[in-house]
Amino acid sequence: VGQENINTDIITLTRFLTEEQLRVPEATGDFTLLCHALQFAFKSIAYYIRRASLINLTGLAGSSNITGDDQKKLDVIGNDVFIAAMRGSGKVRLLVSEEEEEAIIFDEHPDARYAVVCDPIDGSSNLDAGVSVGTIFGIFRLPDEILGAGKSVSAKDILRDGTELVASGFTMYGASAQLVITMRGGSVNGFTMENSLGEFILTHPKMQLPAKRAIYSVNEGNSMYWDDWVNDYFHQLKYPSEEGGKPYSARYIGSMVADAYRTLLYGGIFAYPADKKSPKGKLRILYECAPMAMVFENAGGLAINSHGERLLTVLPEHIHDRSGVFLGSRDEVQKAIDVYNKHH
Ligand code: AHG
Ligand code: MN
Ligand code: MN
Ligand code: MN
Repeated sequence: VGQENINTDIITLTRFLTEEQLRVPEATGDFTLLCHALQFAFKSIAYYIRRASLINLTGLAGSSNITGDDQKKLDVIGNDVFIAAMRGSGKVRLLVSEEEEEAIIFDEHPDARYAVVCDPIDGSSNLDAGVSVGTIFGIFRLPDEILGAGKSVSAKDILRDGTELVASGFTMYGASAQLVITMRGGSVNGFTMENSLGEFILTHPKMQLPAKRAIYSVNEGNSMYWDDWVNDYFHQLKYPSEEGGKPYSARYIGSMVADAYRTLLYGGIFAYPADKKSPKGKLRILYECAPMAMVFENAGGLAINSHGERLLTVLPEHIHDRSGVFLGSRDEVQKAIDVYNKHH
């Protein structure tokens, strides 16, 4: 029997990051070391998620966070793991987490040049049901003039729009642990955790969304609160006016990372519109909207807010500020923009 063609030229995340760094002559290696710390955080969180039901880590922590969410035990553990990994990297000056009311300043690293935003466990309301959850992250490069001994930074230094992100991405702890990462102006690359090696392996190089796909992903339970243009938009998908038009298929998991990952692979549109109940929307700009918007734009898709504006240009007023979001296949988001413009 012929030797099956075993691929021995495996690209791990570590090798991928090394090759990325070699492409940037002036790179110091700090970004690479930061990404290795991120990688460890993802592996640790995946470990706890997979054992949650076995070691009584499901259920509520009994606390709530500043955005009003009840914290799950895994929200708190994921947050602690992430903070420790970022502090331990020595490359992070400032960290914003969904689970921390204030920005965390690492004064022990006054020269560290990066600021990180994270949603340690996205979709945590789904945890106890065993549905996929994940971690969303974004990396900003702080300006040199605010760094160094004797200088101080504060939360206002991270109130930047998504166009300033140098990298972003997310993990999804599903059937296997997936990681999607992109650099500013770069491609989107997907990795799958090979548990026996403990390595993320490049499985989805240079991901590109289909330009269109008849799938929409939104919580229809909020329809009563939606603006007229939003109801008009989704109604057109469900009751196509053109002769013989087929209705769209509905897919909503309720974890942004899972709905985003499906949309990235299959195409379609994901939305969490701002509405009368949540006038600024539910999803947080810094650690949910902006990182996802960069991934989708770099994969050939679009991402807008509830006013048809490019999501990456939305500036957060505070670290937990929110925005409406419509993101996915270019043609599908364009349809939403066209309906918005028809109503305004
Ligand atoms: P998180 O678990 O980090 O608080 O995020 C939950 C978000 C997001 O994952 C998802 O798209 C959205 O909440 C679902 O909200 P609804 O349950 O209101 O649809
Ligand atoms: Mn939450
Ligand atoms: Mn989230
Ligand atoms: Mn979360």
